[in-house]
Amino acid sequence: MKKRILIIGASGQIGTELTARLRTQFGSHKVIATDIREGDSELLEGGPFEILDAMDYKSLENIIIRHEITDVYLLAAMLSATAEKFPMRAWNLNMNSLFNVLNLAKEKKIKKVFWPSSIAVFGPTTPRTNTPQKTIMEPSTVYGISKQAGERWCEYYFNKYGVDVRSIRYPGLISYKTLPGGGTTDYAVDIYHKALKHNEYRCFLSASTTLPMMFIDDAIKATLSLMEAPAKDITIRSSYNLAGLSFNPTEIAESIKKHIPDFTISYDPDFRQEIADSWPQSIDDSKAQEDWGWENSISLEEMTGIMLGNLK
Ligand code: SER
Repeated sequence: MKKRILIIGASGQIGTELTARLRTQFGSHKVIATDIREGDSELLEGGPFEILDAMDYKSLENIIIRHEITDVYLLAAMLSATAEKFPMRAWNLNMNSLFNVLNLAKEKKIKKVFWPSSIAVFGPTTPRTNTPQKTIMEPSTVYGISKQAGERWCEYYFNKYGVDVRSIRYPGLISYKTLPGGGTTDYAVDIYHKALKHNEYRCFLSASTTLPMMFIDDAIKATLSLMEAPAKDITIRSSYNLAGLSFNPTEIAESIKKHIPDFTISYDPDFRQEIADSWPQSIDDSKAQEDWGWENSISLEEMTGIMLGNLK
């Protein structure tokens, strides 16, 4: 089968790295990167790139037909902290882009869809440690509400229309190729930038706020494993729990101090503390392990070495 891939939101944190990986794997001419804004030079020069607004159904359909796209990775979204400031814009972007893609799959214009969900689908009433795949979900953020609704729609389109849509509830993702993008877990990206620049970091979450996290390479590995798995093995059509690391600001600061001994951290929690407090501390991902062999590989110490080494 000839595979041709469309990435929507290719300039973002996941898109930048996923595009590079898919171009290597399938050939750069088979991966069409799109975003509402231009990305870095590696993204623009490494293969086809087009400007696309994911909410514009006609333009999206046009690109899909013109490039004979089979697989779509829909990565455009407004993240948790920004979404609290622009609730309606976040809802419109996060939901309409998903409906556009799901409807094109329903009409058989594409074969396979990847759409990211998040730990934000959980809320204050969810069990916070080792959070199960199926549990109470009462998200209290705009972003979380949009992701939970999106999960329900994905499962609905699979059940009613046979759309092959696959999804992961990503934990906080940490990477060095893009700047923090408005997420609550993004302190764990920003801290490395500030550690190298100023030897100090003022954290918007409290010292003991433990959250589920993951280095980007593991997130990309999980995404590719899920998308390559035979359809019969995919038993979850809402979204898979995925666990990697769990740490708090004190622990990540300690790991940085091993490289930068005079690094200091101070705490000044803002509105994002309430968001973090509504999310799990650790995740049970046994379904992802059983169904498509998921295993996290990069530890906090390794991640800190990679982040500081590459940002220098
Ligand atoms: N990392 C995201 C955020 O903090 C959650 O998916 O918004």
